[in-house]
This record gives sequence, structure tokens and C-alpha cells, in this order.
Amino acid sequence: MRAYDVLIKKRDGVELDKSEIGLLVESYLDGELTDYQMSAFLMASFLNGLSLDETAALTEAMLSSGDVLSFEESLAPLVDKHSTGGVGDKVSLVLLPIAVECGLRVPMISGRSLGFTGGTLDKLESIPGIETSLDPEKMKEIVSEQGGCFAAQTERLVPADGKLYALRDATGTVESIPLITSSILSKKMAEGVEANVIDVKFGRGAFMEDEARAASLAEMLEEVGRRLSFKVKTILSPMDQPLGKSVGNALEVAEAVESLMGEGSDDLMALTHRLVAEMLLLAGRVETLERGVSLSKEAIDSQRALERFVSIVEAQGGRIDLEKEGFGLPRADFIASFKAGKSGLIKGIDARGIGELLREMGGGRFRAGDQIDPAPGFVFERKVGERVAVNDVICEVHASDESALSGAVSRLRDLIEIEAL
Ligand code: URA
Repeated sequence: MRAYDVLIKKRDGVELDKSEIGLLVESYLDGELTDYQMSAFLMASFLNGLSLDETAALTEAMLSSGDVLSFEESLAPLVDKHSTGGVGDKVSLVLLPIAVECGLRVPMISGRSLGFTGGTLDKLESIPGIETSLDPEKMKEIVSEQGGCFAAQTERLVPADGKLYALRDATGTVESIPLITSSILSKKMAEGVEANVIDVKFGRGAFMEDEARAASLAEMLEEVGRRLSFKVKTILSPMDQPLGKSVGNALEVAEAVESLMGEGSDDLMALTHRLVAEMLLLAGRVETLERGVSLSKEAIDSQRALERFVSIVEAQGGRIDLEKEGFGLPRADFIASFKAGKSGLIKGIDARGIGELLREMGGGRFRAGDQIDPAPGFVFERKVGERVAVNDVICEVHASDESALSGAVSRLRDLIEIEAL
């Protein structure tokens, strides 16, 4: 059997077996199968779908394309959390130190911003001095000393995903549930954790707008995980307005620190506590979600999670100065208030539009490799469902130059909807 014959089978709607999918991925990585042939396979998979068995086989083939981390048994239980991406989603920054203080070990590997959605790694890199390119040895050292770390994906971890994702991006095949499933699960399994909680987002500011499609993705992630003996628990969460108060790299780190100090907003903290509780349940550390939530809250109330965050950042070469205003993070030179133009009820804050606006202000990237400006962003004083009077401040806008500031303030008029009462 040649890789080319496997392509033809998929084109004709015949289900492929594990060895055929393995052959395809191996031949592609060897350079024997060309980009245009692999693109044909991706399009055939997009159009004909992949069965659960095929998706599991693709996940395994991708996983074995690179290194798989392994940690000493004494470090168990190793559990991670993943989000399919959103706007203002700084949950990982708050959750990791809480989970560690609840007894879990979390070697988190995060991504960079993608399109209009933010990336945990870009947020973290606004912390002066922090190093996120950790090799496996350094990750193990920090996880054994601190209980967790924030690391960047390396080229040695699931190289097949890097290549396939670039092809999918260029061939209109990103939005395939089986292809997304294998991409996410292969990377999570390569981290060497035993379980993963995945926050599948839906809505305007999510990669998948439709809730029913997000639910199908969640179902497939859990079922493929089951077939590969990898514990996966998904939750679905709405992403129509930005999560929490702020959007923007340094501003989100500052919000994460404030949240660890016990001043987090209700939406951000409810989601964070729920995810920590799911991690604890999955690892068998608690028997009920309620118990998990109360352990998570205790880690905040006792300040242990805050201290843990500062200490992990220090172990990675960074510094959060709790005594300084803004915690020593970069701050924009130009700040203005966006005020309500009329009184009424805030009906919508377009998360996607806000993410796109941030990207235009330099806080995201248009091409891989673009430099990120950590300072720009938005701090929302009011959210959807709140009443405002004329001239009430809805949000503070931070920008690195005056024209970006005035441009952003005027764009917000179209992104924030107020319904007159
Ligand atoms: N996130 C991933 O890691 N992979 C996908 O295919 C889509 C979202």
C-alpha cells in the first residue's frame, strides 16, 4: 500500500485503518507525500468526515511524530486544562497556581494568540524577564519544585500538528471537528499528563460560534480520549462578551493577579473554580464538584495561590511586584474612558470585534512571528446586563499612541450595544 492509495480510499469514502493513517502521516513527515497530496487528504477528510476510529488513529500518528514528555511517578497526579480560545480568557493564569495548591501537578503548554483570540503565552510574556521556552528538563525541574509551569510548545512536540495546521490554514480545512480533535488531543497527550479538562467555547468570540457544533467537538474530544485511554472532560462555556474585566496582554496578567488576590470578577472566577473542580474530580482528588470548588476558593482566600503564582513566575525568571501599582507590568502611555452615549441596558459587547480591535492596536498578530505590544487593551467597568446612564464609564481604553487611542474609542461605539429602556 502506498500513501497515494490511502488518499484515493479516503476520497472514495472508505474508512481507513490505523496502519493506513500511520503510513500517511509518516510519509508526509518524511517528505515522500507532498503538501498538495496531504492537502487533498485534508479536504477529503473535511468533506467525508473521519470516524472515531480514524480520528483516534490520526491522533496517535500525530502524537508519535515527536517527543512525549514523561514525569516521575512521584509527581502524580499530572493534569492540565486547555481552552479552545476566546477573548479576555486569562483563566489559565489564575487556574494553574490554584490547581497546584489543591495538590495537582500542572505542566501547562500553551499557545500564542491566533486570529482574534488571545494566547496565554503572549499574555505571560508581558511579565518582565519571564522565560517560556523551557526544555523538557527545565519543565520537569520547575514542576517538581513548584508543582507547575507555563511553557511554550516546542518544535519537537507533535511536529505533525505544526505542519498540518499550516496546511489546514491555507486550504480552508481548519473547521473540521475530527481534525481539531486530533490536533488538540495529540498536543495534550504529548505533555505527559494523565488527564485534561477542556473548555470548549462557543459564541461570537469563539473559534466555533455555533453551540451545537461546539457540543459535537466536546463529545468527540471525550470519546477519542476514551479510546486512547486518556482522561478528557469537556465543559462548554459561552464566549459572546469578553471574559472578566480586561482584554489585552499585560492588562490580563494584572487582572489575573488581582483575581488571585481575591478581587476576581464573578464570571472569571465561576469558570476558573469550575475548571479546577473538574480537574480535581478527574484526578480522583475529590468526589464532588462542590468539594472541588470549595478547595479552589480556599486556595484563593488563603493567598496560597497568589504566592504560588509569584513563585512560579520567579522560577521562570520573571518578576511580579505586588507592591507596585500595576505590578511592574508594561503600561500604555495613552489611556481614555469610553462613556455611554445614552442611558439604557448594555445588550452586547462584541467579543470578536474587541479581539480584532486589540489585534489592530498591536496586541495580537496578523502573521506568525509578528511582534506583540503587551500594553494596549481594554478594562471593562460594566458588562452585559448592566444599566448605564449617559456618560457613565463603560470601559477604559489603553493604547500605545494617540491615534490608536482615538480610533479605538470611536470603534467601540459599534461594538458595545446599549438598549434604551
Ligand atoms: N486549536 C488547536 O490546537 N488545533 C485546532 O485544530 C484548532 C484549535
